[in-house]
Amino acid sequence: MIPFIDLKTQYQQYKAEIDAAVIKVMSDAEFIQGKEVQVLEQNLSAYTGAKHTIACANGTDALMLALMAIDIQPGDEVITPSFTFIATAEAAAIFGAKVVLVDINEQSYNIDINQLADKITPKTKAILPVALYGQAADMDEINAIAKHYGEKFGHKICVIEDAAQSLGAEYKGKKSGHLSEMGCTSFFPSKPLGCYGDGGAIFTDDDALAAKLRALSSHGQTQRYRHEYIGLNSRLDTIQAAILNVKLKYFEAEVKARHTIGARYTELLQGADCVTPMTFADRTHVYAQYSVRVKDRDAVVARLKEAGVPTAIHYPMPIHAQPCFKGLGYVDADFPVSARICQEILSLPMSPFLTEGDQGGIVNILKKLLDR
Ligand SMILES: Cc1ncc(COP(=O)(O)O)c(C=O)c1O
Repeated sequence: MIPFIDLKTQYQQYKAEIDAAVIKVMSDAEFIQGKEVQVLEQNLSAYTGAKHTIACANGTDALMLALMAIDIQPGDEVITPSFTFIATAEAAAIFGAKVVLVDINEQSYNIDINQLADKITPKTKAILPVALYGQAADMDEINAIAKHYGEKFGHKICVIEDAAQSLGAEYKGKKSGHLSEMGCTSFFPSKPLGCYGDGGAIFTDDDALAAKLRALSSHGQTQRYRHEYIGLNSRLDTIQAAILNVKLKYFEAEVKARHTIGARYTELLQGADCVTPMTFADRTHVYAQYSVRVKDRDAVVARLKEAGVPTAIHYPMPIHAQPCFKGLGYVDADFPVSARICQEILSLPMSPFLTEGDQGGIVNILKKLLDR
């Protein structure tokens, strides 16, 4: 069976270097805050262009730390799209902040900027746009809206990009993760840059935020055993950093392969009865997921499975319908695009190691099903 995301081939490709890097950490016995973590942070800053990179334990913590850095309080409002992975909204809700949802744009699957301003109130503390599936949201417009309303209400509205799925993607020549005051990413194994466990990072150009984020990620500690803030224990393991340093060397080549494979899917699926992802002229897509929309999605999924093609649904339920957010009182009619896309969306096998032959086979099977 074709893997949904081919992490085994990737490991085989870099095995000698990854094994050596892991063994070195074990020999050095620098498991926590070893030098590989610092090297990774420098490498990621060079890669994204961000002045500071703060590695942490996972992408969800990265979002939480970013919100903690701006002193998120119960009752503050945080705006997120209604169609994303739960972590985006969860990171705000956990602090007692009110999650304010905005529907998505049907073409980009990212937050609909035409509906954003209406949701901003004097209580809005942050906007968390998501670069869903690996293509950035309309970040210039979002930054401008945040600035305008921040000035109007006399306090800053911070834009925190959720770039968990989009490391490697570019927006107007800049890297996703470095498109607003703070950007957060995830190194979950299936992400474009994945480690072999959990991992995450925050990017910022702001020196004061960087210092606070660093402290917050280590129990709010500013000097040994001096705790300035209530923080988290959210550090990236040295072993994971060492693995990421190896993978980062090959990342640009993988991103290029992702572009090629994504574009090939789109080309091969031309004329088929499905909606392929739209890529915008001013940005690139890293296809963390290659997701299409089809009619009668669940039947298509079942038939693809029978034919040996694994798929995934990102996501079957919008944020407003999640049981944990029932209390917000939203209904499907509030977010019609999100509600509909959850019924139609389907992710196909995708990785930089997907061969042309396997990809052709997947498309042929899918096309036959769609033609029925
Ligand atoms: C959009 C989005 N945000 C946040 C996260 C959270 O990342 P992690 O799983 O590393 O906590 C993920 C990853 O699953 C994600 O896809």
